[in-house]
Amino acid sequence: MARPIRRRRLLQGTLAAAAGATATSALRGQAPAAKTASTPGEPRPVRIGVIGTGGRGTGLLGGLLTMKGLDVPAVCDVRPAAAENARNMVLRAGRSACETYTAGEEDFKRLLDRSDLDGVIIATPWEWHTPMSVYAMKAGKYVGCEVPIALTVEECWQLVDTCEQTGVGCMMMENWSFRRDNLAVLNMIRQGLLGEIIHCHCAHSHNCMHWYFDGRGYPRWSGRHLIRRNCDLYPTHSLGPVLSWMDLNCGDRIDYVTSTASRCLGIRGQLLKKYGPNHPPLKEKYLQGDIVTTVARTVKGNTLVINNDMQTPRPYDNRWEIEGTNGLYNEQRNAVYIHGVSPKHEQWEPFAPYQEKYDHKWWKEMQASAGGHGGTDYLELDKFVQAVRAKGPTPISVYDSVVMSVIFPLSEQSITKGSAPVKCPDFTRGKWEKSKPYFAV
Ligand SMILES: NC(=O)c1ccc[n+]([C@@H]2O[C@H](COP(=O)([O-])OP(=O)(O)OC[C@H]3O[C@@H](n4cnc5c(N)ncnc54)[C@H](O)[C@@H]3O)[C@@H](O)[C@H]2O)c1
Repeated sequence: MARPIRRRRLLQGTLAAAAGATATSALRGQAPAAKTASTPGEPRPVRIGVIGTGGRGTGLLGGLLTMKGLDVPAVCDVRPAAAENARNMVLRAGRSACETYTAGEEDFKRLLDRSDLDGVIIATPWEWHTPMSVYAMKAGKYVGCEVPIALTVEECWQLVDTCEQTGVGCMMMENWSFRRDNLAVLNMIRQGLLGEIIHCHCAHSHNCMHWYFDGRGYPRWSGRHLIRRNCDLYPTHSLGPVLSWMDLNCGDRIDYVTSTASRCLGIRGQLLKKYGPNHPPLKEKYLQGDIVTTVARTVKGNTLVINNDMQTPRPYDNRWEIEGTNGLYNEQRNAVYIHGVSPKHEQWEPFAPYQEKYDHKWWKEMQASAGGHGGTDYLELDKFVQAVRAKGPTPISVYDSVVMSVIFPLSEQSITKGSAPVKCPDFTRGKWEKSKPYFAV
């Protein structure tokens, strides 16, 4: 789970919904006669359904409902109260005719079979991400799926194959790819300030016991993974910006990974402290190591360290650092060193002036628009919606989505085999060699 940025207060703005995009599409069906978010004379609103209206799903729904020219005619959740809550959000936002789908785990299919939807946001437990995304693409609906989009290598291939066969866009909603500082660093890398990239470090260090366990200290669906798995089970927030910083899928790709897990003390320690020694979940054996370190090597020979660290009491930290032949950026220090440019030889200097100078145009555009909305999640959603509207490529491709997610199963395989190297499949089937950078270009 990504946490709001506190250290640097990033200015917020809004990007007006892309006006005038009128791509025709065989996917479009009848418009409901109900009230919509558009005004007369404007193109038909883009229509997005939401599956999984719990914590994250309602967060994303709230963002969608601030956008002009967009309707949410259908929401789905196995818990009727959650779907009803989402429907009320839609109505309170001045939209009408939002239908709920609550008839069990497979009812999402009826939502996806609707002829009037252009796309869908999926924010359910992880096991459902690939089956729902595959069904959605086959039904002609653009997919914006929460993280990680796949749990196995086979699921990654299913997503790639279906996306290629249907031609329908599929994007994992990795919000940290869109963070303002990360996009400014991307600009600096593309302008050659750091020289040739060699190495990167990233982490998702976030005490998520509140998310793995419910209010009474029992494992939620997410916490049940801690019992049976030992892997980097949340690799996408670390990798979000790294993918484009390192040109993965467009000039380079991950060749193999090795992963090592520490012992597991954090879960029991935190449960014991909060609930005492007789708390029933303490009888479980939790496989998940507290800190998982994955080292990836790319075919070009670059290296990447990924840390997962989500069950010990600690401050939030992503520890992003990217190093090239001429300089480096360090997120923890909020600093850069550029050889021949930084005032003091081999000494850090503050990142802030670079943030200003290399601020990405997406953020400038978003700020320039009025409305009081904005931020990283808004930018991510807006770029997804623009792709749906235009029936064009999504900013994060299906290949990016699966490469970020595949660290989950590959790290599990490596740990099981005593930190043995595990090959990363080339999901692009060779296209990475010729593909030019496309994210945020
Ligand atoms: N990007 C971020 O910053 C961020 C933050 C939080 C969560 N997430 C991701 O969002 C996803 C959801 O997490 P959450 O915290 O909202 O979980 P949650 O448990 O609050 O919500 C999940 C919802 O899905 C519903 N659901 C379960 N099975 C379903 C099915 N078959 N059909 C329809 N609905 C179903 C549940 O009833 C629940 O309301 C996860 O993938 C999580 O990793 C991302």
